[in-house]
Amino acid sequence: MRAAALSSFGPPEVLRLTEVETPEAGSGQVRVRVKAAGVQPFDCRVRGGWHPFGTPEFPLVPGNEFAGVVDQCGEGVTDFAVGDEVLGFTVLNSYAEYLVVPADQIVAKPEKMPWEIAAGFSGNAQGAHMALRELSVGPGDTVLINGAAGGLGTLSVQLARAWGATTVIGTAREANHEHLRSLGAVPITYGEGLVERIRAVAPDGVDAALDAAGPEALRASVEVAKDRDRVITMISFDTAKELGLRDWGGARSTERLTELLGLYNEGRLRIHIRQSYPLERAADAHRDVGSGHGRGKVVISVS
Ligand SMILES: NC(=O)c1ccc[n+]([C@@H]2O[C@H](COP(=O)([O-])OP(=O)(O)OC[C@H]3O[C@@H](n4cnc5c(N)ncnc54)[C@H](OP(=O)(O)O)[C@@H]3O)[C@@H](O)[C@H]2O)c1
Repeated sequence: MRAAALSSFGPPEVLRLTEVETPEAGSGQVRVRVKAAGVQPFDCRVRGGWHPFGTPEFPLVPGNEFAGVVDQCGEGVTDFAVGDEVLGFTVLNSYAEYLVVPADQIVAKPEKMPWEIAAGFSGNAQGAHMALRELSVGPGDTVLINGAAGGLGTLSVQLARAWGATTVIGTAREANHEHLRSLGAVPITYGEGLVERIRAVAPDGVDAALDAAGPEALRASVEVAKDRDRVITMISFDTAKELGLRDWGGARSTERLTELLGLYNEGRLRIHIRQSYPLERAADAHRDVGSGHGRGKVVISVS
């Protein structure tokens, strides 16, 4: 089968169209014919050599979320059948024509959900869900989302509103402000003067803050938070340690994904596709995500 694979770690150009062995579904697993795969900053770090999953074996296929059609069911799989349209999560391997995953890492794709949206839904939606649950976001809250225009940020803004937050302040470049307004956020520009701009919207401070942008955003969040236990980062872990912020963690699950798809079906979560790249241009997809800027989600269209 065709896959966008690494034969070594390195810059985006090491990600190349490669013939690799088609996997077979084992017991409790399904094989999915991949229609599209989401691209995460996580994948770019893996490509660059960050590989906390044992000894890496090349060719290594990145990609930790996907949507496609079940085409083989291993022994003991009863919840899915060949032909089912699904989306799901993995750690690696989704930039490929076929992927094998445990059957408890997929859920049914809503009938009208486009393939590219389905492919890019799991990672950011589940990340936003974990973070906002950890922050106990709920009715009446004023919430700060740093990095609000990205894949994670846009879903965090919408989820905070769906869970009853009264005011969601989202930081982004001005070019993305109108988009953030359309999602229900009060947009503000990041960079020098950030704390003053947040205070202009929330003079009493914010109830909860999520950093999906970097150390400066995390420092500003701590300055404006009423309770530092309601500040978390998805990215600036050294700074969090330096500031004495508490640790947190969470795991993806089909229960979480199903709850989020319920909100999608109700029209309360949407995803803007920034760009869809064909499999042979996976390196360009990585350059795009690696830029650190842009609105919404980058995906790879596989078949
Ligand atoms: N499941 C998850 O989603 C997950 C889990 C763990 C960690 N993370 C981490 O969370 C971060 C964001 O992920 P993502 O998928 O949303 O990435 P992304 O789609 O590439 O978005 C990055 C966003 O950051 C914004 N940005 C850049 N510099 C900024 C700054 N100084 N202040 C505020 N916004 C800034 C950019 O907006 P502009 O174009 O407006 O500059 C862009 O929209 C990544 O570091 C990722 O590794 C995500």
